[in-house]
Amino acid sequence: MDDAIPGLSPAPGPAVFANLHHLSHHAAWRHQLEMLLESTGEGIYGINQSGRCIFINRAGADLIGFDPDEVLGRNMHYLIHHAHPDGSNYQVEQCPIFHAFQEGRGVRVESEVLWRRDGSSFPAEYTSYPIRDAGQIVGAVVTFADITERKRAESALRANQAELERRVSERTAALSQANARLQQSHGALQRLSAHLQQVREDERAHIAREIHDELGASLTALQFDLNWLRPRLAHDAALESKLDDMMSVTGQALGAVRRILTDLRPGVLDHLGLWAAVEWQLQEMQARSGVRCTLAMHDAGPERRLGRSAEIAVYRIVQEVLTNIARHAQASEVQVDVTGCPSAITLRVRDNGLGMQVPAQPTSFGLLGMFERARALGGELQLDSAPGAGTTVTLRVPDSSR
Ligand SMILES: Nc1ncnc2c1ncn2[C@@H]1O[C@H](COP(=O)(O)OP(=O)(O)OP(=O)(O)O)[C@@H](O)[C@H]1O
Ligand SMILES: [Mg+2]
Repeated sequence: MDDAIPGLSPAPGPAVFANLHHLSHHAAWRHQLEMLLESTGEGIYGINQSGRCIFINRAGADLIGFDPDEVLGRNMHYLIHHAHPDGSNYQVEQCPIFHAFQEGRGVRVESEVLWRRDGSSFPAEYTSYPIRDAGQIVGAVVTFADITERKRAESALRANQAELERRVSERTAALSQANARLQQSHGALQRLSAHLQQVREDERAHIAREIHDELGASLTALQFDLNWLRPRLAHDAALESKLDDMMSVTGQALGAVRRILTDLRPGVLDHLGLWAAVEWQLQEMQARSGVRCTLAMHDAGPERRLGRSAEIAVYRIVQEVLTNIARHAQASEVQVDVTGCPSAITLRVRDNGLGMQVPAQPTSFGLLGMFERARALGGELQLDSAPGAGTTVTLRVPDSSR
């Protein structure tokens, strides 16, 4: 109590205001400071050089469970700062207030506890600043607050955040698993699609062989037989006319068989190669629909061959593109450009027809089949169009033969 500054406690009442004009200037200031100290919700105490309390406000005394008078003169470290949160001894030499005090600087700490009279502790935030008198450090003023609520809020926030992170990482893991499964099944579907295309081509080739060998041979035999009959009709006009009809029907049937065979298994592809086959397709298209078709080869010599299945795929893609032009485009011109570079061949089919809104993801089977075939080739297909602006289909195929 010897170091206490008299007059700082107890708290002044409203009467002090009323009597201010009786006091000297200095005393009035003292009262005002006193009122400020007593009005703040934070604890404020002062210590002298030996760490003893020289004043404490009401809020400070309440926070540590003492009466202000009981605290004055007591060594504050030993009174309220004597142990760590786990109860282990807190040496005064380790105390930041002590150090800051010695070094004449301020300090702010919010990770420690202060102890109450009843032996309980509370998490506190405190600052300590030296008190100077004529340049000499004569003590320190310590401001402290109970931050139990803040700590609780912080730890609730941390727990929420941890929970949120846990959920996010759980969800991310679930999503990436689902994504991996999706990719797997997508890959499987692509392989299945490529396999089905292959099976379809094999099946077509098989049917083409059957039709060629059975139907084609029978019709040719029929033609021979009809020719054999002609000189034996003894110039009977009615029979001869009938024979002409039969010859004509047989000829038409043979023509139909040839067309079906070409569609099933483009022999021109086997005999002349892809580019001649594409040229033949364009000629057929022009003859059938009247659309003017032109083919230009740029740096991709007609001798340049892709593998057998790649050529069939390109042929089928061109077939579908031309069928679509004939069915939907109402075009008057089709221009096909083939450009070669050492590693790839680009085939571009442009029509000047109605155009269309390009779907973000093709779902109709014609377009889907074209994209699938291109992907199975290791190539890529691009569809550029807009209503009224014609349509361009660009196919890029890697040339593995080089
Ligand atoms: N060159 C084109 N010009 C204008 N529209 C086109 C062209 N090509 C395709 N389309 C449009 O794209 C749609 C989808 O084409 P896709 O080939 O997938 O189906 P389809 O030709 O209608 O039927 P499928 O090919 O299955 O017999 C067509 O219905 C048509 O509206
Ligand atoms: Mg189509």
